[in-house]
Amino acid sequence: MKEGRQLSVSAIENGTVIDHIPAKTLFKVIQILGLDHIDNQITFGTNLDSKKLGKKAIIKISDKFFEDEDINRIALVAPEAKLNIIRGYEVVEKKVVEVPDIIIGIAKCMNPKCITNHENIKTKFRVVSKKSVALKCLYCEKITSQENMQII
Ligand code: CTP
Ligand code: ZN
Repeated sequence: MKEGRQLSVSAIENGTVIDHIPAKTLFKVIQILGLDHIDNQITFGTNLDSKKLGKKAIIKISDKFFEDEDINRIALVAPEAKLNIIRGYEVVEKKVVEVPDIIIGIAKCMNPKCITNHENIKTKFRVVSKKSVALKCLYCEKITSQENMQII
């Protein structure tokens, strides 16, 4: 166990553990998944040491099992996140997040003239590259690349 001999955050009986979240995007992940609006028991740890990420965060949500489609929404802010599905205290499945084909909300269109930057309209993009993420705005057709991506 990478967190050392003791669990940094208590084990859960049933639910989902999202590990390897960059510490700096933890609150974005919470927001994207709507964890601030659900009644499930949630524990999290942040600024835990990680060889890969420097500082990582982990979230444990009891009795919650996400649809792939919902979980994949975090790919823009936590591309290396690992999901562990827990049943009866055991890890029964491990999953990685995949960048979806369409992204609604989450990112800002980099085109200052885009309507989404002037009116109260949710951004909508088609993902044209997944490795280094590039998003094509469905309103203005401009490409927003990984380097100039701003998360809303
Ligand atoms: N976990 C948990 N409750 C359990 C079982 C596991 O919260 N009942 C958490 C662990 O704390 C860990 C994650 O789920 O953060 C994955 O567990 P496990 O596969 O045992 O740990 P690792 O071997 O560290 O996983 P990996 O290397 O795949 O990240
Ligand atoms: Zn646009």
